[in-house]
Amino acid sequence: MKQTIEDIDVTGKRVLMRVDFNVPTNNGVITDDRRIQLALPSIKNVLDRGGTLTLLSHLGRPSGRGYEEAYTLQPVATRLEELLGERVVLSDEEREARVILRENLRFHPEEKKNDDEFAKKLASEADIYCNNAFGTAHREHASMIAVPNAMLDKPKVAGMLLAKELQYLDQAIDQANRPFIAVLGGAKVSDKMGAIEHLLGKVDTILIGGAMAYTFLAAQGVEVGDSLVEDDRTEDAMSMMRIANSSTTDVLLPKDHICTQDVQVDSMTKVVTGSIPKGWMGVDIGPETIESYSKCIQGGRTIVWNGPMGIFEKKPFENGTRAIALAMATATEGGAITIVSGGDSAAAVSDFGLDTEMTHISTGGGASLQMLEGIAFSSVTLLDDAV
Ligand code: 3PG
Repeated sequence: MKQTIEDIDVTGKRVLMRVDFNVPTNNGVITDDRRIQLALPSIKNVLDRGGTLTLLSHLGRPSGRGYEEAYTLQPVATRLEELLGERVVLSDEEREARVILRENLRFHPEEKKNDDEFAKKLASEADIYCNNAFGTAHREHASMIAVPNAMLDKPKVAGMLLAKELQYLDQAIDQANRPFIAVLGGAKVSDKMGAIEHLLGKVDTILIGGAMAYTFLAAQGVEVGDSLVEDDRTEDAMSMMRIANSSTTDVLLPKDHICTQDVQVDSMTKVVTGSIPKGWMGVDIGPETIESYSKCIQGGRTIVWNGPMGIFEKKPFENGTRAIALAMATATEGGAITIVSGGDSAAAVSDFGLDTEMTHISTGGGASLQMLEGIAFSSVTLLDDAV
């Protein structure tokens, strides 16, 4: 367990807080401010106790050659100001204001290089370092590693959001109540191989959906028609199934599929059980699979989900993903711990209006997947341990 911002005295101190304000924007308008909203408790906690703040974040992937209008944190500063009801100064020079937001860290090439000199300058501005950027926890960048290291014996603590994410994606998974179910979907098997490997033997059941299921089915010699298959990963998929067979984990693949000849919203679909004919591709799990996966989820005591079951962004192909979200909501109601990790599954849950029905929805994409792979983050390890 790590020391958190709530554990230490911040009165009269300046806190350098690394947040993840890498929010989606469209023409400078923020389309989802969840990451800002969820950082607020730690920000308010510092201000309420008489501390001041310098906030650090990146936004997008600018070239790293100075200021770029498209990647300015100005929309974030404006939104934060509204949510906080307090002036937020977006500046790289300001030293005194109660809430300062430094411009996009990635305008400086030193950020991604984890540069010590750049870090020393940032570190010299504050009395306390606080990492509240779970979404960036897997990046070994200056604001995550070199800055806290340059703070030497000053406190280095976790923000409340980071602590909560670790609580659910680390402790809850490590000491899971059983049956422990993992639901893994998404397009690519290659993205989820590490997670499957790590979860085998730990979870009771892995339910596989999404296009990645077709690589597993193809590896077993099942006809998958024109479905998306990663040909170069069928060997890996096969060996993963062999390991699964000799482990305590059941790995289930879809038995039926929603298939189409064209991924347009108005194109014809049909339910196919078993082999998918040529010219047709699987775009969602079918009704029989929905029923068996939902039953399994509802019987679980800990359920972790990463990756949609189909092309949920298109209404005719959303049923499988919606059913998983609903089954998880029922499980939560029954007292199970339900954890949604990964940007697409989180977006799906939000689209279905089921956000409040889950125990925890992670703000991390890559970071939450790496946690499922059992990877420990240096950016977290270096923080002070709880006493
Ligand atoms: C994310 O959105 O996953 C994080 O903010 C990290 O962003 P990055 O993948 O550009 O490093």
